[in-house]
Parts: sequence; structure tokens; C-alpha cells
Amino acid sequence: MTTSLIIDGVCPEEWTAAEHVRRYLSRADGYPRRVEGESVLLEHVPRDARRILDLGTGDGRLLALLRPDRPEMRGVGLDFSEPMLEAARVRLANDQRLELVEHDLTQPLPALGRFDAVVSSFAIHHLEHERKRSLYAEVFEMLEPGGVFANLEHVASPTHRLHVAFFAAIREPIEDEDPSDRLLDVESQLAWLRALGFDEVDCYWKWLEMALLIGVKQTEAREPPPRPPACV
Ligand SMILES: C[S@@+](CC[C@H](N)C(=O)[O-])C[C@H]1O[C@@H](n2cnc3c(N)ncnc32)[C@H](O)[C@@H]1O
Repeated sequence: MTTSLIIDGVCPEEWTAAEHVRRYLSRADGYPRRVEGESVLLEHVPRDARRILDLGTGDGRLLALLRPDRPEMRGVGLDFSEPMLEAARVRLANDQRLELVEHDLTQPLPALGRFDAVVSSFAIHHLEHERKRSLYAEVFEMLEPGGVFANLEHVASPTHRLHVAFFAAIREPIEDEDPSDRLLDVESQLAWLRALGFDEVDCYWKWLEMALLIGVKQTEAREPPPRPPACV
């Protein structure tokens, strides 16, 4: 496994602090229903995917889940947090098929070539909304025709009451809410994906503030929509 260094942005403190990372990783397996969302994501990443990019890979959780059923897979995990990348090196055990790249997602994606799938889990919600949108556009450009974008994400609740209820459901004090969260509703993100040209866009799984958003890049140019009937 190789690690490249591409740092071109400022790092918010939370995720570069070893204690914050340790605390998240110690709880990561304990979030209710998370495995359910991950299993739906795994179902939608083709088994024959050869190149997979994981945005905000953390300790390489998604790459580790994708790896066993995809023997052809070469994976790239991006993250800006050195403690996370160190945890990923340990978890992924220097697998030569996987590369870790230190990169701040507030900045344009580095030139990494084309991918059959781009995945992410619980990372993109840390970016400002405008950057989320421009990142989705960059993902679209990086996908091969027919490629899949699957983003398992922490999304906004429609009301404050439901936001509080989500924290109660995951058994976290609302006071511990991550100050780097920039939550956005599902509908806005799906609309962006459609406007960018993604096909088959939908929320494929959801539980409270956890949602799996998927879009597929068309293989061929889209059929023009049918003409409306002529007026008589
Ligand atoms: C909640 S953790 C999720 C990690 C992993 N994807 C998982 O599912 O366990 C959020 C991850 O996003 C990363 N992250 C947050 N902001 C980032 C940024 N601007 N650039 C790169 N990575 C970022 C953090 O370092 C952290 O690894």
C-alpha cells in the first residue's frame, strides 16, 4: 500500500486531533442500523468494479468492506486526517491493491484517473454545501460511463425535534454534536445529482439522519424525452 501526500487546504481541528479520531473509531461499530446502510451500499457497487475511490475514507472502513467480494478491485482512499490515515494503514494491512492519499476535500480532487465506483460514508457532510455540490460534479467527471456514486451520509432532519430524536436514537448527547457537521437534506442532494446528469438517482436506504444516496453515470447519451402530443 502506498501513501501519497496532497495537502492543499486548512484542516479543521476535530478530525486531525488524535483524541477525536480515537473516540469516533471506538464508537464506529456501535451506530445502530449502520451495517444495514452499508450492506445496501455494497449491493450497489458492482462485483467487477476495478477502480474504487473512497472519499473521506477514515480508517478505510468502506474499502475493507468492499475488498473481499471484489477480487479485481484497486482502491484509493482519500482523507486529510493523519491519525485516520494511520488507522487505515493498520486496518488495511499494507494491501498493495489499496492506496491512501492525504487530501483535503475542501479542495478540488487530485488527478487520480477514472473510477468504476466512487463511495463515501459519513464524510461529505463535513463540507460546506457549495463544496458538496462542486464535489459531486467532480465525482461525475471522474466516473467511467456506467460508474456508480454511492454516498452513505449523515443528512439533515426536517425539524429540530427530529434532529434531537436522532441523537437520542444513536445514544449520543446532542451536546457532543460534531461542530464540523454541515448537514443537508436528502432532497436537495438528489436534485443536484440529477441536475449534474446522474441517472437512477434516489435515496436507496434511510433511517432517521442516515441515508444512502446513489446515482449512476449513464453509459450512453440519454434518449431525448418523448415529444408532447401535438395540439389539434
Ligand atoms: C465520520 S468519519 C467517517 C470515516 C469513514 N468513512 C467511516 O465511514 O468510518 C469522517 C471522515 O471524514 C474525514 N474528513 C472530514 N473533513 C474532511 C476534509 N475536508 N477532507 C478530507 N477528509 C475529511 C475525516 O477525517 C474522517 O475520516
